[in-house]
Amino acid sequence: MSEQSRRSMPAPGGAPAAWTFFRQWLRNPRAMAALSPSGRQLTRMMIDQLPAGARRIVELGAGTGVFTRALLARGIAQKDLLVVELNAELHALLHREFPEASIVHGDARDLVEIASRVGFAQQGGADAAISGLGFLAMPREIQKGILEAIFAVLGPGRPLIQFTYGPASPIPGDLARELGLVVQRAGIAPLNLPPAFVFVYTR
Ligand SMILES: C[S@@+](CC[C@H](N)C(=O)[O-])C[C@H]1O[C@@H](n2cnc3c(N)ncnc32)[C@H](O)[C@@H]1O
Repeated sequence: MSEQSRRSMPAPGGAPAAWTFFRQWLRNPRAMAALSPSGRQLTRMMIDQLPAGARRIVELGAGTGVFTRALLARGIAQKDLLVVELNAELHALLHREFPEASIVHGDARDLVEIASRVGFAQQGGADAAISGLGFLAMPREIQKGILEAIFAVLGPGRPLIQFTYGPASPIPGDLARELGLVVQRAGIAPLNLPPAFVFVYTR
């Protein structure tokens, strides 16, 4: 199946996922930060960054669920997944498709409170965070708030896996230094539309 036709597969709610995604982009291009869901090559590269033995995963900005589906295909159980999605329509779609996961309609900035509310925090730190958030479109204070929340719920030394559409880290260098983050560019997905780069952050 081609990259393009795979992206157009119907979401469980009925409409093709790519169309659902595009409609949300028309409504709020800044928050969506992309015209269409991530493609297969980028998705695989993101999932490949999971640390060996990773079990409990936080996903931020899941969109139509391309990474969520890939996490499950990699053997992550729905009960070990906490997904936070800001867009109400996409949240409803994710909730329908992944009924046993903790799918929360909320803001990544509130991750600490959300993890505590759904009982995710009580079980210890998460093994990885995987993010589709558009950091480049966010003011520094929001970037900082979200990153602080992510590293508060991650276990020690556990990674934040993030993609972006340029070769530079979407987290400004001075903010990464302030938060004590080690930045690693893990790879490029040239077949993605647009081509994307994967970054891994640890503390
Ligand atoms: C570029 S899309 C990525 C979607 C999906 N991960 C993918 O790769 O196809 C960004 C997603 O982040 C969501 N989002 C934006 N800001 C958010 C926030 N503060 N908290 C949670 N989700 C957010 C948007 O609604 C959108 O679904």
